[in-house]
Amino acid sequence: MRPGVKNAIRTPVEELVSGMVIARNVYELESEKILLYAGSVLDSVTIFNLKERYNIENVWIKTDISSDSLKQQMKAEIDVHESLNTLKEVFGKDEETPITELTEEAAEQIDMLADDLLDSIDTDDNLLLKMHQLQSYDDYTYKHCLRVAMMAVSIGKQLKLSREQLRDLALASLLHDIGKRMISIDIIRKPSKLTSDEFDEVKKHPALGYRLLKEHGGYSQEVMNAVLMHQEKYDGTGYPLAFKGEEISYLARIITVADVYDALTSNRPYRQPWSVAEAEEFMMGGSYTHFDYDIIVAFLAAFAPYPIGGKVLLNDGRRATVINTTANVLRPCIRVENSDGTTEDIDLYNDFNHLTLTIIKNIK
Ligand SMILES: [Fe+2]
Repeated sequence: MRPGVKNAIRTPVEELVSGMVIARNVYELESEKILLYAGSVLDSVTIFNLKERYNIENVWIKTDISSDSLKQQMKAEIDVHESLNTLKEVFGKDEETPITELTEEAAEQIDMLADDLLDSIDTDDNLLLKMHQLQSYDDYTYKHCLRVAMMAVSIGKQLKLSREQLRDLALASLLHDIGKRMISIDIIRKPSKLTSDEFDEVKKHPALGYRLLKEHGGYSQEVMNAVLMHQEKYDGTGYPLAFKGEEISYLARIITVADVYDALTSNRPYRQPWSVAEAEEFMMGGSYTHFDYDIIVAFLAAFAPYPIGGKVLLNDGRRATVINTTANVLRPCIRVENSDGTTEDIDLYNDFNHLTLTIIKNIK
């Protein structure tokens, strides 16, 4: 495993003082413009501008303090906007130009992002909600990789992986498709069906990613194998090695589940995204052929916070039964029990008359 490089703490702008050193690039809100580069030393004018002119709320400050107590005080939450900007830099901003190496700076950024993901799975209840909000109408590789990473660590947590395995899983899933950035963008973004030569080219991406990590050095064999094998299928019909079952790296089998689910539920130029329910059904149908059954079970558990048939408590005090899924796993269709004994069916996702109604928790 790569050594940790996280000597930074997320600090509210009100608590900044001159002389502090910025640990990560600070971006203008809602844009990719960098306001301050990592390594900049703060002065009072800069602090004032961050607060008053740019409305920045938090920045990462370098610190040598790494005690567990301090880490516990930090409210670990993944900042999707910041994470996307980080990944975009790692994957190369100019997507017309294929990348040829993983720079040291990019590797450090990925390390920090993996740490953020790990910290957030224990404390950020909205991780899956944020993952779903990240669904978008384009298919940029770096966005796909962030969604897959958020999903993969959630599955990994469900599978009770060790901290070290989860960190390897986070690193591998963030980087699983980096090999695609070494292939011509015309093939990767081609909106129509690929020719067999083009498909052969795409099929090189796991091995290219593996080579990139190997050449950079410092990655565990588990991380590199997970990148290499994420396109394998459980029945041996995948690529590049056509490995079967447990020959395929465990972490790769987890990434495959997250990867396919994300592909199905994302928009593509040639088709509409599948609903959560349709995608889950497809995934269940693929147990033992495409996927490892045990991982599918963990995936369904991780992604069905409110399973069909389960009882839930609503924020207005009423009880309800979940009767169907929607595109948002946190806002399913429910049958509400009124105090006069009547029931009412509500689609929490599509019915805008009930925007303020939310599920608080599962009940028996
Ligand atoms: Fe892939």
